[in-house]
Amino acid sequence: MVLSSPSTVLPSSTEREISRDVLTLSRHVLQQFESFTAEAQDFSALFSRIALAGKMIARRLGRSGLVEDALGVTGSVNVQGEEQQQMDDYANRAFIRALEQTGLVCRLVSEEMKTPIRLPENCSLSRLALLIDPLDGSSNIDANLTVGSIFSVLRPRENCPETNNEDLLQPGRQQLAAGYILYGPSTQLVYSIGKGVHSFTLDPSLGEFVLCQSCIRTPERGSVYSLNEGYFCQWSEGIQSFVRYVHRRDGYTSRYSGALVADFHRILMQGGVYLYPGTQKKPEGKLRLMYEAAPLAFLAEQAGGMATTGTESILDIFPQSLHQRVPLIIGSRENVAEVLHCLKG
Ligand code: AHG
Ligand code: MN
Ligand code: MN
Repeated sequence: MVLSSPSTVLPSSTEREISRDVLTLSRHVLQQFESFTAEAQDFSALFSRIALAGKMIARRLGRSGLVEDALGVTGSVNVQGEEQQQMDDYANRAFIRALEQTGLVCRLVSEEMKTPIRLPENCSLSRLALLIDPLDGSSNIDANLTVGSIFSVLRPRENCPETNNEDLLQPGRQQLAAGYILYGPSTQLVYSIGKGVHSFTLDPSLGEFVLCQSCIRTPERGSVYSLNEGYFCQWSEGIQSFVRYVHRRDGYTSRYSGALVADFHRILMQGGVYLYPGTQKKPEGKLRLMYEAAPLAFLAEQAGGMATTGTESILDIFPQSLHQRVPLIIGSRENVAEVLHCLKG
């Protein structure tokens, strides 16, 4: 029997399917480190636990109309002064429980908790902190629309007191990793450790996030602008002039879902610009720097885009507090440049 040379053997569809299925999140993270060091293995394990929290949240969201205490509000107001949804609380607890007894992160900073939670059993093994918006866009839940989770990994600053968590107040450019989980028609996880942006789709039959796109690049320009025009009268003249500009100019289309992660994911993949500007009443805007704007800005820059407050790069801001808010303009370089041009008058 003549064995055909490997070069002429095209992989069968089965072989392609197996190759795809084994390229899971944990293996991809290991490969990103290019060596199986202890740090690489810790990061791989950390991403597996983040993925576990995401799977638990996706499962509950998928059944939210069928199980008790999944829809509606908890009746309490979170540190942001916002009404907490039941799923906000569940998602927060899912991340905490997924990271306990793992030795992988010492502190957890969350939009849903005034002060970070320490996981003492982990702190002797890891000093890392995980910062999360456990459920982003939670006003969409009762309407069965897309929501997400956002995460950021920081190494505390050396020679800096841990009291009051000052050692976590550092510019977003210092992030070790950033990403989000998008609970949409499919559940996707997108991340970067500073070597490009990669996306994974949850295969429920495997219970694994499987690589679906690596080294994502945001187009230099896109047609989508995304912001809540209900606040038009409260914006600065510069933002108002940008909105009038896109209204006049052909080729722009408006998309705004009420979930930052969903709106950002569209911009990351297809190009365009998302804005959550400040207003006269709230010049800092609504979005939180450390677990919304900074992780997404990290991804945006890794994918060739940019993120700014309108006056400075999001990743260069030195935070003054863990829950600090910032205005956000993020997306394709050319679209963001148009906004900045309008802001300059
Ligand atoms: P969160 O649900 O974590 O508080 O985030 C909601 C944010 C963001 O996801 C979304 O883009 C924005 O709030 C929507 O705010 P408006 O309803 O003011 O447009
Ligand atoms: Mn949010
Ligand atoms: Mn949230």
